[in-house]
Amino acid sequence: MTATIIDGKAFAATVRTRVAEEVAALKETQGIVPGLAVVLVGEDPASQVYVRNKGKQTAEAGMASFEHKLDAATPEAELLALVDRLNADPAVHGILVQLPLPPQCDADKVINRISPAKDVDGFHISNVGLLGTGQKALVPCTPLGCLMMLRDHHGDLSGMEAVVVGRSNIVGKPMAQLLLGESCTVTIAHSRTRDLGEVCRRADILVAAVGRPEMIPGDWVKRGATVVDVGINRVGRADGSGKTRLVGDVHFDSAVAVAGAITPVPGGVGPMTIACLLANTVTACCRAHGLPEPQGLTV
Ligand code: GUN
Repeated sequence: MTATIIDGKAFAATVRTRVAEEVAALKETQGIVPGLAVVLVGEDPASQVYVRNKGKQTAEAGMASFEHKLDAATPEAELLALVDRLNADPAVHGILVQLPLPPQCDADKVINRISPAKDVDGFHISNVGLLGTGQKALVPCTPLGCLMMLRDHHGDLSGMEAVVVGRSNIVGKPMAQLLLGESCTVTIAHSRTRDLGEVCRRADILVAAVGRPEMIPGDWVKRGATVVDVGINRVGRADGSGKTRLVGDVHFDSAVAVAGAITPVPGGVGPMTIACLLANTVTACCRAHGLPEPQGLTV
């Protein structure tokens, strides 16, 4: 048996199409254009690529895209003042400050300065608290994308045994909260978990978000389990060519032989993250205007 490959690229395209339909309807019926502001401080190459892709896909969905690129030496007070201006700008429905920030800017302080209603990353403590208490929140994009794929594949997740490997605020913790909200039995494991393989083998749903290339081998996967690989790690090729390739946190070739379904890297979770950012921006826009929320774009 080999696993079903869950095509995140195709699924993300369907989410983006849904977003574009909602954006067109908002324009036509309300005269509203959802707007997303992305703030990049410094010149981290990976962040520059993300920000470029976000701007491109935002525009393709018919939304307004506002990019603010600040010098790496920007003082924290200046960044906070920009966040304040974006909070007050009615054309901006979503604000994303790209992380990591340079050392002079306190990421927690900056994130918590964003209006919770515009916090399309879902990182503000208010949104974290709302998600943790099962209330309506803006949900972090990567775990939201994972949950959309899991629901699409399984339908009802109730009663399933879920193991999330990784305890970050961006993925591991909100993923666990979302799965709990689906009535899964949830374990959060991490790099220090004792007998990690044993814990992983319990999972009907195994979410890998540790950031360590190919750390989870196939023999940690229960036969028939669904594996969601959040890792995006660049490693050298074995052929000595000096070229690199992308791998996940799961050893794909051994896991695909055991799992029931698996997300590949690239082409799995990755494309869903930006699609969910666009979805969150539309959701935030509808909430800001007191309009009914589009179905299927959030949880
Ligand atoms: N840097 C890496 N991933 C993310 C993300 O999802 N949001 C933000 N703001 N920064 C990031």
